[in-house]
Amino acid sequence: MKLFDVYPINDITIVKAKGSYVWDQEGQQYLDLYGGHAVISIGHTHPHYVQRITDQLNKVGFYSNSIHIPLQEELADKLGKVSGRPDYQLFLCNSGAEANENAMKLASFYNGRKKVVAFSKSFHGRTSLAVAVTDNPAIVAPVNQTDNAVFLPFNDTEALEAYFKDHGEEVSSVIVEGIQGVGGINEASADFLQAISRLCKQYNAVFIADSVQCGYGRSGKFFSQDHAGVDADIYTMAKGMGNGFPVAGIIIAPHLKPKYGMLGTTFGGNHLACAAALAVLEVMEQEKLIVNAAETGNYLMDELKKITQLKKVRGKGLMIGFDLPESLKDLRKNLLFGQRIFTGEAKPNTIRLLPSLALRKKDADEFLEAMQEEIHSMQTV
Ligand SMILES: Cc1ncc(COP(=O)(O)O)c(C=O)c1O
Repeated sequence: MKLFDVYPINDITIVKAKGSYVWDQEGQQYLDLYGGHAVISIGHTHPHYVQRITDQLNKVGFYSNSIHIPLQEELADKLGKVSGRPDYQLFLCNSGAEANENAMKLASFYNGRKKVVAFSKSFHGRTSLAVAVTDNPAIVAPVNQTDNAVFLPFNDTEALEAYFKDHGEEVSSVIVEGIQGVGGINEASADFLQAISRLCKQYNAVFIADSVQCGYGRSGKFFSQDHAGVDADIYTMAKGMGNGFPVAGIIIAPHLKPKYGMLGTTFGGNHLACAAALAVLEVMEQEKLIVNAAETGNYLMDELKKITQLKKVRGKGLMIGFDLPESLKDLRKNLLFGQRIFTGEAKPNTIRLLPSLALRKKDADEFLEAMQEEIHSMQTV
């Protein structure tokens, strides 16, 4: 059987990983500033993470949500503390798209409405309603199309206010990334997030903060929306939550009440997933990784701004983007195959940096030097 060929892949096979580095089968070392798409939060194969998952696997790996799983309560407790939202409720699932599906569904159960407001350049996943509120018609199949998804311009507070004035009573939820990832590292302004929060309260709509990519400490605060001083009604999380183990979740404000059967999943919140998620939060706390993300991120951003060939260096913490001029359009490929550094991209010409939150200053320096060298050689050819 062949694989269903949907991914354009690089001809590299990774066989070993540690911290911010990975190695291919020829033993070549790569600096990883991509983290397998913002997933590696505490560093590859962190010893505490490996130990906690291994220990759990030796006890019990899986049982369904039909029995008590105390690890879930432990995780909810810790997540409440680390995120600063001890009064929220946790529902566990398996992927970012699933987290967003559950958030929008829960909102609709809550207020009985159908319209979901999303924004230009948004990405919320590839399933059902998550893809319908994603601003990329190329990945929306006819069966996913729905009039319930409404797109407004990102960061346009006036347009949002005008829409609510006319249709506020129909809006079930507003879903927004604090920093758009796939869309190219675009920060939602504090004013815009505050307007979403205010309008959702006024019209009894649900504010969903998609924190799948920008959350879990990546921005230098637990949720990137925290920079704007707002509280969303639901935060969706995935990627960094399990450092590679598939675990996702939504945290839900107290006024949204649960009911048996309202949401559900077979795999979500299983023993192994909880052990992985707990290990991540323990390491984040012990090693102060959110502070590190802020500090190393600021340093990296300041240094990148000094490289005059790079345009619009932007982002927060360790979620950084910059645009490339036409003359450097192959920079990402050259960094990978010439300098052995993984970075991310956003179409058409943005490089995205999404490293582990444990990235050290010396790793950042290695990257900066390699970039300067590569840019220099590309411009002298
Ligand atoms: C902001 C955001 N939301 C949702 C998703 C979907 O997550 P998953 O691929 O785990 O379904 C992604 C994935 O890139 C994302 O960046």
